[in-house]
Amino acid sequence: MSPTETPLLEARGIRKHFTINDDRGPARTLKAVDGVDLSIQAGEIVGVVGESGCGKSILGKTILRLYEPNDGELLWKGEDLTAVSGPGLKAMRRDMQMIFQDPFSSLNPRKKVHQIISQPLRVHKLGAPSELTSRTEAVMREVGINPAYGRRYPHQFSGGQRQRIGIARALALEPEFVVCDEAVSALDVSIQAQILNLLLDLRDKHGFANLFISHDLAVVKFIAERIMVMYLGRIVEQASKNDLMAEPLHPYTRALLEAFPVADPSVRHKKKQIVVGDVPSPMDPPKGCHFHPRCPLASEKCRNEYPPLKEAAPGRLVACWAVNGE
Ligand SMILES: Nc1ncnc2c1ncn2[C@@H]1O[C@H](COP(=O)(O)OP(=O)(O)OP(=O)(O)O)[C@@H](O)[C@H]1O
Ligand SMILES: [Mg+2]
Repeated sequence: MSPTETPLLEARGIRKHFTINDDRGPARTLKAVDGVDLSIQAGEIVGVVGESGCGKSILGKTILRLYEPNDGELLWKGEDLTAVSGPGLKAMRRDMQMIFQDPFSSLNPRKKVHQIISQPLRVHKLGAPSELTSRTEAVMREVGINPAYGRRYPHQFSGGQRQRIGIARALALEPEFVVCDEAVSALDVSIQAQILNLLLDLRDKHGFANLFISHDLAVVKFIAERIMVMYLGRIVEQASKNDLMAEPLHPYTRALLEAFPVADPSVRHKKKQIVVGDVPSPMDPPKGCHFHPRCPLASEKCRNEYPPLKEAAPGRLVACWAVNGE
């Protein structure tokens, strides 16, 4: 893939802030996503990883415009997505789908499976009734669900099968871009691998790009080609999977990897730099680099100035004063 090719989707400086009005004093701002740049090429799988509450889901939903960004630009094949509304937005939505964590709560329990999978086709008025049936059955076969089970309800399936149904519903419209938000997090490890392999096979066959969001580095490592590490609403490191796993540069990425179980017994006794403390609140992020209170390398500058996300090596972006210096 040539880097000069227009990305399928590009986000520039995306922010999603919420105003919190609770009984704890005046209204405050929660910066769930605070200036994220992202670019994804057709057919590419990009992973987004980070601890709970760092803004992964809000990022995924904002780039699909399920939330309106407060600031920033979204480009779809070079066209300004933030300016599109009405029928134009509906047409673009066809090309962008989302697969959720909990297939049980995202599948209507009162609808039969073939109705659930064919619903997007009906909403977008794609095909005559006979075509709807054949398309629905074809996509069921693709995800490994026997079309004869189309008359069953979601509760009659196992967790892994329900996620296959969720995938079938997302793929029925043959999207070009899919956001998977913790798509395998609710499943047993053996079932996780089956679903991840299914997603890889389907991507190879249909060529959709995939933004794969997970708090679980093992899962992201399995599926993604490029990884973005998120901390308190911002991207702190971005690299190809191989570079990131071989040599993480940001202290937060290093800590995430240190906490990651290693199969090689020879490295078992290595001193680990496990990151201490909880993720601070996005309502009151630390001044300077948001990671500095938990960072072993923090200096005076880190306590005062947020480091820009800069190229630290070819194809590698890092937001860290200790890595990038001035
Ligand atoms: N609708 C909302 N209104 C206000 N704040 C919200 C809303 N949705 C999410 N948040 C807050 O935004 C921040 C980011 O949330 P988000 O769901 O994106 O985290 P996440 O990285 O997906 O976490 P997890 O791994 O637990 O799914 C959190 O502090 C969350 O409490
Ligand atoms: Mg989430």
